[in-house]
Amino acid sequence: MWPKNAVEAISNAKQLLVVTGAGISAASGIPTFRGEGGLWRNYRFDELATPSAFERDPGLVWAWYQMRRKVCLNAAPNPAHHALVTLEERCERFLLATQNVDGLHRRAGSLRSICLHGDILDARCTRCQNIWTLADEECVADENDPQTLPHCARCGALARPHILWFGETYWPGTIETAFHFASGCDVGLVIGTSGAVGPPAALIEHAGRRGAMTVEINPNPSSLSSTVDHLIPTGAVEAMRALIGALDT
Ligand code: OAD
Repeated sequence: MWPKNAVEAISNAKQLLVVTGAGISAASGIPTFRGEGGLWRNYRFDELATPSAFERDPGLVWAWYQMRRKVCLNAAPNPAHHALVTLEERCERFLLATQNVDGLHRRAGSLRSICLHGDILDARCTRCQNIWTLADEECVADENDPQTLPHCARCGALARPHILWFGETYWPGTIETAFHFASGCDVGLVIGTSGAVGPPAALIEHAGRRGAMTVEINPNPSSLSSTVDHLIPTGAVEAMRALIGALDT
């Protein structure tokens, strides 16, 4: 499944960038965005994950995130998340840039990682920008009564999920740090993203243009598939198991 030169490049990499998307968590039971079953109460995710949707109906948007928060809390990291911890331990300079908000990389033990799109367990104040981890009791709300939605303990204003929404710009320092790292990496490995959101996919293209070997793991074609050096066309768990096995031999 893995070409010998790709395994050698990953094994010898001094600087390794990994970009992940929803596909790496599919085996943990967390639905991808653009796959089947992407609708909730007949809304598409891109009708809910926007500042205007929150302004119009914060209760509806909170209800969607609280449903997803429960799914994420009930899920567990899978062997692909754990394999990335093994890769991190082997590599001198390593960065995991994830688009996922499910917290599974952190729970698997990844340390050198950036959550480009936020964290579903966190809330952020709409006024003072205070960020905190939601307690379970904050998540039992009546979505039709705005007073019961999460509010900031510091200033009392309404809180929102700490997620990067459509139409918003990346938080200062996040994507820039990842691009800086991509400029100097030997290998760029991308796992389980459609590439529909531009900047994270562009990290891998940027790494490739700067001379890194690029490898994609995805059972389906993505916007990156025709640009990478190697495509491993299987699920993340199978591909990462095979990679760790090949690195050990
Ligand atoms: P998508 O739902 O767009 O794409 C998921 C990708 O995972 C697809 O290319 C699938 O082929 C692939 N896939 C499915 N099962 C897989 C498996 N078992 N192993 C590996 N790959 C698999 O999700 P993302 O690309 O992550 O943003 O979406 C990017 C962003 O769009 C998300 O972060 C989210 C959304 O808007 C925010 O929430 C801000």
